[in-house]
Amino acid sequence: MKQDEDRILSPQASDDEVLPPELRPRRLDEFVGQESVKERLNIYIQAARQRGDALDHVLLYGPPGLGKTTLAHIIANELDVGVRITSGPAIERPGDLAALLTNMSPRDVLFIDEIHRLHRSVEEILYPAMEDFALDIIIGKGPSARSLRLDLSPFTLVGATTRIGPLTSPLRDRFGVVMRLEYYQPDELAQILLRASDILEVEVDEPAAAEIARRSRGTPRVANRLLKRLRDYAQVRADGRVTEDVARRGLAMLEVDDKGLDKNDHRLLRTIIEKYDGGPVGLETLCAAISEENQTVEDVYEPFLIQKGLLQRTPRGRVATPASYEHLGFTAPGQGGEDDSQLSLFEQKEAENGE
Ligand SMILES: Nc1ncnc2c1ncn2[C@@H]1O[C@H](COP(=O)(O)OP(=O)(O)OP(=O)(O)O)[C@@H](O)[C@H]1O
Ligand SMILES: [Mg+2]
Repeated sequence: MKQDEDRILSPQASDDEVLPPELRPRRLDEFVGQESVKERLNIYIQAARQRGDALDHVLLYGPPGLGKTTLAHIIANELDVGVRITSGPAIERPGDLAALLTNMSPRDVLFIDEIHRLHRSVEEILYPAMEDFALDIIIGKGPSARSLRLDLSPFTLVGATTRIGPLTSPLRDRFGVVMRLEYYQPDELAQILLRASDILEVEVDEPAAAEIARRSRGTPRVANRLLKRLRDYAQVRADGRVTEDVARRGLAMLEVDDKGLDKNDHRLLRTIIEKYDGGPVGLETLCAAISEENQTVEDVYEPFLIQKGLLQRTPRGRVATPASYEHLGFTAPGQGGEDDSQLSLFEQKEAENGE
């Protein structure tokens, strides 16, 4: 998928995106929102520290851009230990994992991002490592092959994934702590924005922060990105301050609507409404119609649209809700304008047949 201004609202990080590292909160008390996650983590971290143990393995899951990587670093900071960072697909062979694990100091954190993409052979040697802090290494081949057990220092594995579904159950079961991150509330995002505005040295009014927060898809990464673009806008088109008015004008330029939907969301919903009578339409068909990958639609577009009540996933396919008809300026089927809606559906059918 192309990552340009088109995807100003993508919760995924783009390759060339530089968000200043200082934007990442470093301690638990600087981390805004996710209260229940924070409270639990705080207790487990303190308990582990008091006992001098490694913290239990932690699995963080939830949509992109909500702070999984940030929390992994915070966990290491709060434990006052080192952290090694890698990702599922980056560990190609069991030996790579062995090298990582044997080089860690006691109680260090190993962060594996995209843990659902671990190679099977790597995952298998991870099991005893997580459970017994030991590696089983096979030496030699054929009948003379034997297994050697290598002891490791206790460590904490922090795994992150956007979806827990694809994780194998033996792996999932080895995490003592499993936590799901939720979309943020607008007031939490406004706090994140005000904090970020200090770091980015741009003046942002509270009403402006509230406005940007409402349109950030519940996602800190999106909020921070919009803030950077609006800082540019304010600098060139205003006096540098992001006021409510500047925020509104800037967001209009960025084609982010008042519910925080962008062109791509509109295209998806409009396709369901116009081409498929509001659905249900299967995911495959829908993705083909808008030329997007299934994975992108499922992970990036849909969770937010569903949360906003604009889209439903049903066993028979995706359905546009009455709220989405209204938001896009269509008459919802069976609502208002008597035969009007019937007629327009009829007309749409005709138009489609005529294509
Ligand atoms: N609670 C928070 N408070 C302040 N800033 C936050 C918070 N959560 C995330 N951020 C900011 O949002 C950005 C994205 O966070 P992060 O990289 O941790 O997300 P992620 O869940 O790891 O995303 P991905 O799934 O794409 O890896 C970072 O720049 C971080 O500073
Ligand atoms: Mg991350």
